[in-house]
Amino acid sequence: VSPPLSRIVPVTLPDRPYEVHIGHGLLAALGTHVRAAIPRARRVAIVTDEHVAPLYLARAGSALELAGFEVVALVPLDAGEETKSFQTLEELLDDLLDAEIERSDAIVALGGGVIGDVVGLAASLLRRGVKFIQCPTTLLAQVDSSVGGKTGIDTRQGKNLVGSFYQPARVLADIGTLATLPVRELKAGYAEVVKYGLIDDPDFFAWCERNGAALLAGDAVLQEEAVMASVKAKARVVIADEREEGQRALLNLGHTFAHALETASGYGSALLHGEAVAIGLRMAFAFSTELGICPPADEVRVSAHLKKAGLSTGPRDIPGFSADAPALLSHMMQDKKKSGGKLALVLVRGIGKAFVTREVDIAALSAFLSRQLQQTA
Ligand SMILES: NC(=O)c1ccc[n+]([C@@H]2O[C@H](COP(=O)([O-])OP(=O)(O)OC[C@H]3O[C@@H](n4cnc5c(N)ncnc54)[C@H](O)[C@@H]3O)[C@@H](O)[C@H]2O)c1
Ligand SMILES: [Zn+2]
Repeated sequence: VSPPLSRIVPVTLPDRPYEVHIGHGLLAALGTHVRAAIPRARRVAIVTDEHVAPLYLARAGSALELAGFEVVALVPLDAGEETKSFQTLEELLDDLLDAEIERSDAIVALGGGVIGDVVGLAASLLRRGVKFIQCPTTLLAQVDSSVGGKTGIDTRQGKNLVGSFYQPARVLADIGTLATLPVRELKAGYAEVVKYGLIDDPDFFAWCERNGAALLAGDAVLQEEAVMASVKAKARVVIADEREEGQRALLNLGHTFAHALETASGYGSALLHGEAVAIGLRMAFAFSTELGICPPADEVRVSAHLKKAGLSTGPRDIPGFSADAPALLSHMMQDKKKSGGKLALVLVRGIGKAFVTREVDIAALSAFLSRQLQQTA
């Protein structure tokens, strides 16, 4: 059988270039991809979660065996954000050592952003770095978290506060896996797709307005288009600024708000990361509009599109949410993008015109947050 067709986005980092392959049925060719990207590997550990294991673990495992690898399928991790913890990291490293994964071997992260983030961190630490392959199975992971090399876990102080920059050896985005993704998760991932249009690509935002509904209804061709466009956008930024010293910070549009909301709601199932991002995106537009730097019509357009996609746009929509403005503000100040005591916030001059500022008027922000918490969107 010939391997399924895929489209390739190269991430041309000078000292660690890799390819993102996007297409249908790619998991069936996993063995070929590991062979090409990590030629010296003998054993391959697959790490996944309890939801993904019954769906795709066997397929990934036999593809690897077919290519002659010795496969170790670790016990699937619990699904959900709580898995991005010190405890999981420790257990994972312990299991990988027990499985005798050597420095020249390979690790496959099969799942959503939670798996990708914690497995990437473990791979970067194990024996000072074992190569790993990202096989993202959620829309969010395919368009965002699997590309760019940020790994991490959450702590009680906030999200992703412990982590590393560690690039995968390859990324395989099998669009076919999105067919089993719950609609709520698909929508959450879609918020990150929209983000790319809002940052610097108004034409792509317009594409989202035209195609978002069909994409969310399951149109695989449109899903593939969106993943391609998003990965290209992300790769471009990551190549220009791998360690987030400048323009990569633009990818955090909506995220300082989102992380504060997630921290306040305790990373539970009441608020998914992508759902928080949708609210954060709208808050970035609303705050920018209040500051008089964004045309009100753009805020209306963004809000309307997110709502049409079935995403919440205000903190009041989060079930059981009870944080007050000072709490949210303090979570925002804890965000890791802060430096020199100053909050870095991504604001907008309109759709496709995001910019980073360190000159945030904290009193204005605090007043804005209070009003947001009173408003139903
Ligand atoms: N590293 C980065 O650059 C980066 C970027 C964005 C987000 N993130 C992180 O990604 C995480 C969110 O990722 P996520 O939204 O993928 O969440 P997730 O990994 O929790 O996956 C969402 C849910 O879908 C299930 N699932 C996964 N694939 C499936 C499939 N094909 N079919 C059925 N069910 C499936 C999972 O078991 C889980 O229950 C957050 O922790 C966020 O901080 C990281
Ligand atoms: Zn995100």
